Amino acid sequence: MKVDNNANENKIISRRRFFKVTSITLTATISFILGIPLVESVTSKVKKASNKVFSRLVPVKLIPNSFTPVKKPGKLHFNKIEKDAFLRTEKSEDVWVVKKSVEEFTVFSPICPHLGCRYNWNEEQKLFICPCHNSIFTIGGKVVSGPAPRGLDTLPTKIEDKALYVLYKEFEVGIPQKIVIGY
Ligand code: FES
Repeated sequence: MKVDNNANENKIISRRRFFKVTSITLTATISFILGIPLVESVTSKVKKASNKVFSRLVPVKLIPNSFTPVKKPGKLHFNKIEKDAFLRTEKSEDVWVVKKSVEEFTVFSPICPHLGCRYNWNEEQKLFICPCHNSIFTIGGKVVSGPAPRGLDTLPTKIEDKALYVLYKEFEVGIPQKIVIGY
């Protein structure tokens, strides 16, 4: 019986081509699926980075000194501007402000660096205390006791037109390093 070698070879080649095309398609599909969260995370980071806008707090002269006549920081509420593509929205936020002199300020994020609760100023003890797991901080933001892995997170400030401005940031909680995760 005569075997048609050409026909067999063609069959083998087309089978190989089929497997090759299938494997390329499969790899491309998996890469695409795996790539979606990466693209999303990149775009969401870009989106958050677009919120890098200083927010106006209040005129400097309206902020009382935090050490005289009594040791007391101020809690300031403001509207944080958020930009998302063409949308510009405002979100109510607050920060703790320690005024040391006419032009010397420290502004703290209101979020506890332990696990993200909001802490308060305790008038009697003259310390910041977080109600969730009792982390305690000095007026300068240093950890006195409790599980907080780092001191209070400071925020960048500037004075413009005699008013205090803050660049609000969000930080990773539960770790000793201060890592920005959003604006
Ligand atoms: S979240 Fe503040 S002590 Fe745990």
